[in-house]
Amino acid sequence: MTPLPLGFDAPPETLFDEKAIAVRVKELGAEIAGKRRGSDLTVVSISNGATIFAADLVRAIDLPLRLDSLSARSYDGTESSGEVVFTPHLKLDPRGRNILLVDDILDTGRTLRRVVEYLKDAGAESVETCVMLDKPARRVVGMEADFVGFEIPDVFVVGYGLDYDEYFRNLPYIGTLPGTASIG
Ligand code: IMP
Ligand code: MG
Repeated sequence: MTPLPLGFDAPPETLFDEKAIAVRVKELGAEIAGKRRGSDLTVVSISNGATIFAADLVRAIDLPLRLDSLSARSYDGTESSGEVVFTPHLKLDPRGRNILLVDDILDTGRTLRRVVEYLKDAGAESVETCVMLDKPARRVVGMEADFVGFEIPDVFVVGYGLDYDEYFRNLPYIGTLPGTASIG
C-alpha cells in the first residue's frame, strides 16, 4: 500500500477488496448494457470521486458510449457541508441524450439530486444514475440511484476514488477509517 498520509498509522480496514469490486463492476456494466440495449449512452462522471469507478465501469458497458465529467463536492473532511459546490463544465452537449450519471457514493443525496436536476434542465432526454456505494441511512433529500454497487451502513469509507481530505483515492480497495464516522 502507498505510504499513509500524515497522522495515520494504520491502513484502512477492508470493506470490499479489489476482487469483490471488480466482480461487482462487471455485473453493473452488464446490467446497464442489458437495460439500455440499442441506445446510445453518454456517461457523465462526477469528479473527483467517481473517476476511478467510472474508468472501470465504462469498460464493462458493452454499448456505444461517450464519456464526460463534471466537478461537484459537498464534503469537507468527513463532514457533509450541506452545500453542493458544483462546476457544470461539460465538454459534450447533453441535449437530447440518454445520460448515465456516475458517482462514487450516494450519501445525503444532495449532490446527485442537484446534478440530475442540472442535466434535465440542460435538455437531457433521460438521466439514470449509478453509484458504487449507497448509504441509505444518511439520506436527507429524496434520491435513489438506478444502479447500486453495494449498500453500506453509516461508516466513512475511503479508497477506489473515495477520499479523506483528498487522500486515499488511490487505495485499490474500499476500506473504513478507524475513528471516523459520517456526521453532518
Ligand atoms: P451527498 O451529496 O451527501 O450524497 O454526498 C456525495 C458525496 O459525498 C460523494 O460523492 C463523496 O464525495 C462524499 N462522501 C459521502 N460519503 C463519503 C464517505 O464515506 N467517504 C468519502 N466521501 C464520502
Ligand atoms: Mg465525490
